[in-house]
Amino acid sequence: MGDSRGAQMFASADAYDRFVGRYAPALAQAVVRASGVRPGQRVLDVGCGPGALTTALVALLGADHVSAVDPSPAFVEVCRQRNAGVQVELAGAELLPFEDDEFDVALAQLVVNFMDDPRAGVGEMRRVTRAGGTVGAAVWDYGSGMTLLRSFWDSAAATDPSGGQRDERNMRMSIPSELGDLWTEVGLGQVEVSEAVVSASYEGFEDLWHPLEMGVGPAGAYAASLAPGARESLKQDLRARLAVGESPFELTARAWVVTGRVA
Ligand SMILES: C[S@@+](CC[C@H](N)C(=O)[O-])C[C@H]1O[C@@H](n2cnc3c(N)ncnc32)[C@H](O)[C@@H]1O
Repeated sequence: MGDSRGAQMFASADAYDRFVGRYAPALAQAVVRASGVRPGQRVLDVGCGPGALTTALVALLGADHVSAVDPSPAFVEVCRQRNAGVQVELAGAELLPFEDDEFDVALAQLVVNFMDDPRAGVGEMRRVTRAGGTVGAAVWDYGSGMTLLRSFWDSAAATDPSGGQRDERNMRMSIPSELGDLWTEVGLGQVEVSEAVVSASYEGFEDLWHPLEMGVGPAGAYAASLAPGARESLKQDLRARLAVGESPFELTARAWVVTGRVA
């Protein structure tokens, strides 16, 4: 489990917090709203990472109504520390350690495109959700609206002939039609795909760049793999592309949010 590709990629909570984790609390609010989560419900957070969505759920439902799983041992540990009283298990989406119909809602924030087997993973989310309950997820709009990652991969393509090959826009399950089709294929009904736009603040460009050098996520793994000269070219292109310097700034990020109802 802990050695699955998707889990290894995000191994450090500190680097993750400073990378896309900056956007996670705001996105969690949007996912909770779109999924219609309300007090009294029992909710599962799949691929919880360090726990931004878990924390939002605890605030609404209480720790005893929230469970979470992640295949990364480091993230499970941090999510437990940040969310006392929540059952946080080491598991991937593809084999959830829960009985059928245990939850009212199962959610996966920024996870479906990293699952080893998205069809199995979302199928499991449906299995553990009761009839009438909701299965929901969010995935970045890598192709356009996620400013940080879109700009990063555009800079990679501009500064390295093979830089575009790992562009996350090519990941499966990262466009609305694919998400909607997957939700339908696993037997969910009333499928809806909406968008959520959130933002994050940076102290300056170095604040944005630093976690990338720590190798977090596909973008960080690419940046860290480059020779120093190539990495510096990428860095300068990204700074110019974002038109930011050492003053504070904000970036916006759009995610696709998919929800469906268990029949
Ligand atoms: C981009 S992070 C999102 C973390 C968190 N949900 C958030 O919104 O900040 C992706 C997460 O998916 C987890 N992951 C990777 N493969 C997975 C799988 N097959 N099943 C469940 N989670 C997985 C990773 O360990 C990581 O925590």
